[in-house]
Amino acid sequence: MDSIALNDGTTIPQLGFGVFKVDPAHTERIVSEALEVGYRHIDTAAIYGNEEGVGRAIAASGIPRGELYITTKLWNDRQGDAPAALRESLDKLGLDRVDLYLIHWPAPANDRYVEAWRSLVELQAAGLTTSIGVANFLVPHLERLLSESDVVPAVDQIELHPAHQQPETVVFAREHGIHIESWGPLGQAKYPLLENPVITAAAQAHGKSPAQVVIRWHLQSGFIVFPKTNHRERMVENFDVFDFALTDAEQAAITALEAEGGGRVGSHPDTVN
Ligand SMILES: NC(=O)c1ccc[n+]([C@@H]2O[C@H](COP(=O)([O-])OP(=O)(O)OC[C@H]3O[C@@H](n4cnc5c(N)ncnc54)[C@H](OP(=O)(O)O)[C@@H]3O)[C@@H](O)[C@H]2O)c1
Repeated sequence: MDSIALNDGTTIPQLGFGVFKVDPAHTERIVSEALEVGYRHIDTAAIYGNEEGVGRAIAASGIPRGELYITTKLWNDRQGDAPAALRESLDKLGLDRVDLYLIHWPAPANDRYVEAWRSLVELQAAGLTTSIGVANFLVPHLERLLSESDVVPAVDQIELHPAHQQPETVVFAREHGIHIESWGPLGQAKYPLLENPVITAAAQAHGKSPAQVVIRWHLQSGFIVFPKTNHRERMVENFDVFDFALTDAEQAAITALEAEGGGRVGSHPDTVN
């Protein structure tokens, strides 16, 4: 498993398992299966309503805490109340710290993300989260954060897949030492990414599946990625991506797919509150 070195001196497993829309009633079983398959990095959020199931799976796994990497996120209506929100998440997860705590959306209409960021800096200093970062921050949100705080986010978790690559945000983040996490890495199955001929040709050439090719494209692009699936066979498939490499030409051809459109499958960050 490859790791990425973050700007605060810590490392994060580059491939993880996301649990957005994993039914809380089934989360313990699904995350337990993901841990059995080999995933050690789990991406959840308070708003997903499934932190308790993630916590039960962690506890049942017997895997030493130091081998796991757990991310959760501060929901928008708690931006003025981050210390209590993180404690609630930790209680649900059954942990005394997370590895990464993110502001889930800038929610600019609320005008509280700088205040929330200052709270995250204090929570990190208090040891309740090892690293801190943001999600869905575009360049103007990052610029404001950097102008009002000396602490640079470790990551920015943004919607990113071949049809929506957000190059401006990626370039700005990289210039400032912020790593990009790709959410919706498979386009949330909302457009026919896995049937695109560029992807299927690369899959055929390597004897891999289209999903494996797309995950490999994220990894070779340097992004941190945590595809979600409810199905064990897909957990295995999505994890089995370290025995091949896309050629430079295949990588470039997938990068060029953004020009074909398809675009954003989630909400624009300026509209979420
Ligand atoms: N910060 C944010 O605002 C934000 C927003 C969205 C997501 N996220 C994070 O990013 C994670 C990943 O994004 P996502 O869950 O939205 O979307 P995604 O991983 O791009 O796509 C998940 C969809 O792809 C399907 N799928 C998974 N593996 C597959 C495979 N090998 N072949 C074919 N289809 C496959 C899944 O179906 P099945 O489940 O039926 O297999 C599901 O419908 C989330 O779980 C969450 O942790 C963050």
